[in-house]
Formats: sequence, C-alpha cells, structure tokens
Amino acid sequence: MTVPHPLALNRADLIETRHLIGGHWCAGLQADRAPLAVHDPADLSLIASVPDGGAADARAALEAAQAAWPAWKALPARDRAAILKRWNDLIVAHQDDLGRLISREQGKPLAEGRGEVLYAASYVEWFAEQATRANGEVIPTPAPHKRLLAVREPVGVVAVITPWNFPAAMIARKIAPALAAGCTVVAKPAEDTPLTALALAKLAQEAGVPAGVLNLVTASRERTPEVVDVWLADERVRKISFTGSTPVGRHLARESAATLKKLSLELGGNAPFIVFEDADLDAAVEGLMVAKFRNGGQTCVCPNRVYVQSAVHEAFVDKLVARVAALQVGPASDPASQIGPMINERAVAKIERHVQDAVAKGAVVRTGGLRLRRDDAPGAAYYAPTVLTEAQPDMECACEETFGPVVPVSRFETEAEVLAQANGTPYGLAAYFYSQNPARIWRVGEALDCGIVGINEGALAAEAAPFGGVKASGYGREGSVHGLDDYQHIKYLCQGGLG
Ligand code: SIN
Repeated sequence: MTVPHPLALNRADLIETRHLIGGHWCAGLQADRAPLAVHDPADLSLIASVPDGGAADARAALEAAQAAWPAWKALPARDRAAILKRWNDLIVAHQDDLGRLISREQGKPLAEGRGEVLYAASYVEWFAEQATRANGEVIPTPAPHKRLLAVREPVGVVAVITPWNFPAAMIARKIAPALAAGCTVVAKPAEDTPLTALALAKLAQEAGVPAGVLNLVTASRERTPEVVDVWLADERVRKISFTGSTPVGRHLARESAATLKKLSLELGGNAPFIVFEDADLDAAVEGLMVAKFRNGGQTCVCPNRVYVQSAVHEAFVDKLVARVAALQVGPASDPASQIGPMINERAVAKIERHVQDAVAKGAVVRTGGLRLRRDDAPGAAYYAPTVLTEAQPDMECACEETFGPVVPVSRFETEAEVLAQANGTPYGLAAYFYSQNPARIWRVGEALDCGIVGINEGALAAEAAPFGGVKASGYGREGSVHGLDDYQHIKYLCQGGLG
C-alpha cells in the first residue's frame, strides 16, 4: 500500500503542469525541450515537471493577451470586480490545498503556507473592491465653453515576473490590480515554484477570467531571459511588474527603456532593526522573531541588520538567543516545524558564506551557525537559526541580504550613529525600530530612508497598505489605493463648443 505524501492535495487536478495560453492549457510550442523539474526542497523529491518555455511560448502568450485586451478593458468595472471576487472566494475555499502546494514546492511550514493563501486572497479581494472605485476627475473649467475631465484607463498588456519566496502572494498582488484596472497579463512564475501560480490560474479560469486575459508561461532559470526578452522588446507590453533582485530590476529598466514601459520594481532590501534603550525589550524580541523568521528569513522585508543600544544589548541578546535556539527546524510536512528548508543549494551556500565571513571578521556565534543535515534528506538545504553578535558594517551579512535565518547584532551608542548606519546602504525597502519615546518615534520614523517603517511592530504587510521601496530597492507600490495606479494611465478629455 502506498502512503500518501503528507502534503498531498484533496483536489489533485490543482497540480497543473502546463502553460496557460489563450485559455488553453498546453505543453507549449517548445515541447520538444526537456521539462523543468519541480522539487520539494524538504527532501529534493520530484513533485512534478512543467514545460521549459521559450520565446515562441512568450510570443503566443502575448498575442493572446493583446487579443483579449479590448473586450476585458470594455467590461464594466463591476463585472471585472465580480470575477475577481469569485476568484478570491475560490482561493479561500481551497486554502488547504493551496497551502499544501506552497509548502510542498517552497518549503515553508504548513501553517505559513495556509497563511500565505489568505494573504494572497486579501489582495484579490481588495483589488476587486478597488476596481469599482477607479474614479476620474472633473476639473474646474478655464473657459465657459469647455469642460475638462481626467479619466483612468488600463495601460494594456502587463508582464508579471514573480519570485519563489511567496509563490501565491506575489503573483496575486500583481495580477489582481492588473485585472481590476482592465489590463491583461502575461506572467512568468519563479522556476522553483511554478505550481502554486498554475493552480491559482486554474481557479481564476473557474472564476470566469476569460480566455487570454491571464496567460502563464513556465521556464527554467536558463530559459527565463528568452521569455522575458520577448516581452521586454515588444511595444505592446505596456508595463512590467517584477519582484526580485536589484541587478535583474536594473536590467529590466534598461531594456524596457526603448519601448518606454511603465515599471513596478520591488527589489532587494537590507532592512535595519533598531532597539533603543527605551524600548520594551520583550516586545522588541517578539517583533524581531516575527519579522526575521517568517518564511525562514527568506523575505525582502526581513531585518538583515540588528542594532541594539549598548545599555540594553546584553539583556536583549540573552532573550533573543533563548527564543532563537528553541526554534524547530524541519520539513513542512511536520506540524512541529517552524523553519523549513531553504529554497535550494545556492541559497544555503550564500548563508554559509555570510556566516563564515562574519566569523572571520570577528563576529561571535551565540546560537546556530551551521548547516543542518537530515538523515532522511542528506542533500536538502536546512540551516540552523543563528544569532551573531559583534557584527560590523564591513561584513557581507551587513552589506547584502542574507535571505536566511541569520540575525547579526551590532551595538550602538547614539541615535545619530545608528541612523547613519541604518541609512548607509544603497537599499531602502523596510526598516524597524523599537522605542517608547514619542518624540524619538517621530524623529526616527521620518529620518529612516526607506519605503516601509515598522514602529514597535514586526508584521507590516497588509493589502490596504502601500508596499515598496526607495533607492536600489526599486519603485512603484503594491497593495493599497496606490497599487492600482501603476496599472493605469490618466487620460485628459477636453470638450469644447459648449456655449
Ligand atoms: C517579499 O519578500 O518580497 C514580500 C514580503 C511581504 O509581502 O511581506
């Protein structure tokens, strides 16, 4: 008798393994190529294989999106909203299966996988509501015979490129505003985690998203440029929305300049987390645990550098180490797991490099500091939750995102000194600080050079809040009322001859 995998789905047909182009599930126009294998990072077992798409698939997806655009754009906003609401309802109804799928292909603990499904759905529901509120303006006329209006219009076909760390939430918070605005979409989900995106697309079809409005092409890391280059070069793609690394974001900005596309770039972070001596230390430790260890530290807004004022440094570190050392590391299929495997070998190799570099430059390992091997999955990429103290600005872990469960702690003396360090990075996505002094809260909140600030709070993201960065962390905002703007342009209408 075969024992079902603990993350097996109730609805097996939600494991979809083909491109979605023009309303058809298809192996693609480059079906002669070896498929792209999708592995469970917990034990490296094969979950499924999807097509390793290329330029021909990208072109077919774009043709379908372009053909579907006029009718989708012309549909009353209320009707688009109704379809999005049905999509939201289906996502929520399949929370359990989608959560299992996320955990299976991405590795996060099952409770987090299920949580991500609701997080993804919250964007779909929010933008369903926003679709009907995309109001224009009547502008006071400069002349009695004229009337001036500004209306919002969808930009056209949008290319969406998403990362592996939130396989449902990242694609939902791009596709939902695009569809709400009246745009059509060509999307390329991350090569490590395409199955969740395909399952979401299947539910979108069931919700009534018409053929061609949403198209998905899967591709390996090697073939991704082939797909994306088609969309970059084509003037019919009017916008690109990308979440991922800063070098790739720069490449997309450079290459889309020829066709002057709109861009939303949610790029790398290097978030500081500051604990002032007037902070509630227990709340600060709690906030750090939530912010840092969500998704095993594989989150763009994760604190990457922790600064603690000297007077409370030891007390804070003792409390933190006790909490971090107690974290349970294991596969998503084990309900006790709090930290899953890292996404792949490259990810764990980077974490190892950062910790080795820090230790070589004088950091002290207070807990963790090593790769974990499991007898049942010797090649899987687990890393022990780690606290380092005596971190310095020249360490690799202070200069770039570690993207893993490592907390490097430095001490500081003055507010001015810590602000200089916190802002002394090319990145500016998120920052966090803990203080109970109201004057300091305003000063520091305003002085931090980033797009998102957590004040006495570690859990920041919400569908109604604007998410995005400044400097090398990119531009554009996702979620909130601003999230729709990026998928629209403003058209000015001037009517004369009125009297
Ligand atoms: C990200 O890591 O890019 C997204 C994190 C979030 O939505 O909180």
